[in-house]
Amino acid sequence: MDTVIEVRGLVKKYKELTAVDNLDLDVKKGEILGLLGPNGSGKSTTINCILSLLKKDAGTVKIFGEPMSPDAYEIKRRIGVVFQDVGVYDELSVYENIDYFCGLYISDKAKRKELVERAIDLVSLNDFVKFKPKKLSGGLLRRLNIACGIAHRPEIIILDEPTVAVDPQSRNSILEGIKKLNDEGSTIIYTSHYMDEVDFLCDDIVIIDKGKVIAKGTSEELKDMITMNEKISFTSKNLNDDVITKIKAFEHLLSYENKDGSVKLSFDHGDGYLMNLIKLLDDNGIRYSSLNVEKPSLNDVFLELTGKDLRD
Ligand SMILES: Nc1ncnc2c1ncn2[C@@H]1O[C@H](COP(=O)(O)OP(=O)(O)OP(=O)(O)O)[C@@H](O)[C@H]1O
Ligand SMILES: [Mg+2]
Repeated sequence: MDTVIEVRGLVKKYKELTAVDNLDLDVKKGEILGLLGPNGSGKSTTINCILSLLKKDAGTVKIFGEPMSPDAYEIKRRIGVVFQDVGVYDELSVYENIDYFCGLYISDKAKRKELVERAIDLVSLNDFVKFKPKKLSGGLLRRLNIACGIAHRPEIIILDEPTVAVDPQSRNSILEGIKKLNDEGSTIIYTSHYMDEVDFLCDDIVIIDKGKVIAKGTSEELKDMITMNEKISFTSKNLNDDVITKIKAFEHLLSYENKDGSVKLSFDHGDGYLMNLIKLLDDNGIRYSSLNVEKPSLNDVFLELTGKDLRD
């Protein structure tokens, strides 16, 4: 597969703070790459350095095999960016905003009309085309921001946390829209601190913390990297000390947590713990409900690698 973006040894400092620290990144043609990291981990700084909007302190960035620079306009034309902060014109309507941004790339009127309408469809803003941005809810405004960034059908689309502070309906619409853009051929970089979104959307995931790549791979590969293999939870009101001792003695048990009868267990490699647990509970007459088995999440990966939660 072709690499469309290649970043090597990227460093960006803000005075004493190293916001991006020797970062490597490869984005393959046709994929959705997730850049996952907590607040302040350097996602936006990385994006801005890739786009040459910020001056890097060290490293190289190649896009479509060419070195990226502030005046690489031919490369920039082929990239659509949706910034974390919404940037639209208050005096223009939804339609006029999208038409304006699309017009920066596409001069043919008929072609532009088709593209603008397609972008409106994609983010489901059809009922709001005449609205001014100030009349839109936060979620609709974010959808407008996305439509403005992608209407010209760029080959690469970079989205920086497009779902922060949006309602669930807008969030789903945005995620579906991004999948569709990818199906239609765009290569996508998606930054987020929401692990479930990245898990759902992305082919490859790069986890960053404090400006450094701490792990990369597919969702499965990342989950295979950690010791935890399975989580089991259940609720019980009549657990006794004897049974608790037996649970704690399970082979391969990594952690045991019991909050008012809400029990969470995690295990390392291997499986079959569930059957053992059910047998133990049944044999001892313990009533239980909400029994659930889960595989590790990307949050578990982050937690095991860094010792802290990815969540806000
Ligand atoms: N213009 C700036 N001047 C000084 N420090 C900055 C500047 N921009 C960002 N930083 C700092 O650099 C680090 C990385 O910030 P960045 O915005 O790239 O992170 P992020 O992963 O995008 O975070 P968020 O999830 O909050 O958007 C943070 O510690 C931030 O406070
Ligand atoms: Mg950011």
